[in-house]
Amino acid sequence: MSALLEIRGLVKRFGGLNAVDGVDLAVEDGEILSVIGPNGAGKTTLFNVVTGLYPPDEGSIGFDGHELVGLKPNQICLLGISRTFQTVRLFANMTVLENAMVGQHCRTRSGVLGAVLQLPRTRAEEERVRARAREALAFFGSRLASFRENQPAFALSYANRRRLEVARAMATDPKLILLDEPAAGMNPRETEEITQLIGKLRDKGGYTLTICTWSRGCRTGWSPSTTDARSPREPSTRCPATSA
Ligand SMILES: Nc1ncnc2c1ncn2[C@@H]1O[C@H](COP(=O)(O)OP(=O)(O)OP(=O)(O)O)[C@@H](O)[C@H]1O
Ligand SMILES: [Mg+2]
Repeated sequence: MSALLEIRGLVKRFGGLNAVDGVDLAVEDGEILSVIGPNGAGKTTLFNVVTGLYPPDEGSIGFDGHELVGLKPNQICLLGISRTFQTVRLFANMTVLENAMVGQHCRTRSGVLGAVLQLPRTRAEEERVRARAREALAFFGSRLASFRENQPAFALSYANRRRLEVARAMATDPKLILLDEPAAGMNPRETEEITQLIGKLRDKGGYTLTICTWSRGCRTGWSPSTTDARSPREPSTRCPATSA
């Protein structure tokens, strides 16, 4: 069976610096894979290349039967890859629900005219987007659902803002979610909670996940598979979570 995401010989250079230097990795459907490495190892750059923000200098990225190199970020999103960012990137003045609804943007068809004239098709589409966003928020229980829906993103705690980023990623209807340092800046209790959530995203949500984290210890409990960004030629070292 071929992997959902298959990266071969990926290189990304910034001037004389090889930020990503010959990465090979494969992520199987339904797998949680951690990419570990110290600061500057190239983890975020790898995600930026996979999601089309930067073109690679060499290599190929196969996803679900498609070659991603040369595609735009919105095309990659449509194929089923979504992500969160290392530093939270939300629309601070928009509500929790609106931020989650943004996730569906790549799957909408209505234009400005439809919105201005409030055409029935546009209203139906907006209802569908709202329902999908609520579904994603419900995954986080009282942290993001019910009364929080209408709070502006800036009013959320840091941990809730990170959760909202994950909800927005879920709302794009992805097959694969890339999480960049999902536990960064969280306290031990919040880290434990996000760890459990990552397991739930796979087991109940049915997503495949790839997670960037700086330390092997951070991923204990969520991932049976690890690849070390410092040893890109020996990727996808499958090791039991207990040995982390
Ligand atoms: N847009 C850019 N222009 C120039 N250099 C860059 C750019 N983005 C990243 N780099 C460099 O590429 C290298 C890898 O950076 P990257 O952010 O991918 O590492 P990382 O593993 O995510 O680190 P961290 O753990 O600090 O998040 C670093 O040396 C960084 O300075
Ligand atoms: Mg990074």
